[in-house]
Amino acid sequence: MSSSRRDFLLGAGCLFAAGTRLTACTPSAPRVQFLEVRLAELPAQGGKVVSFNGVPVDVRRGPDGGVVAFSLICTHQGCTVAWSEKDLAFVCPCHGGSYSADGNPLRQPPVRPLFRVPARLDGDRVILGS
Ligand code: FES
Repeated sequence: MSSSRRDFLLGAGCLFAAGTRLTACTPSAPRVQFLEVRLAELPAQGGKVVSFNGVPVDVRRGPDGGVVAFSLICTHQGCTVAWSEKDLAFVCPCHGGSYSADGNPLRQPPVRPLFRVPARLDGDRVILGS
């Protein structure tokens, strides 16, 4: 599936599992192109979870001084992952998979990274969306 198609489907409130298989859409969910988050709301450690087009998204400061955002939908079978300060990883409660802070799989079963949501800094705001 192309990146732009994934962007569109994520924007339409669709969830993914097993990489490219579409498992659920919420077409009645309002679709927004952008979401603003105040930079001051991001913790120094970990991230802030927001809902972007019906999808839980972790927004956090990146190692280069920028920001990064990931869909928290596990790429294995679509459960919602959560950041663990203890493990310093996104951990999936369903089958024990985990992902590094940059979204790459650390422990299977997931083999694909978390979907990265476009995010950029604009002054004191983080803008999600493309
Ligand atoms: Fe996350 Fe299976 S759904 S590891």
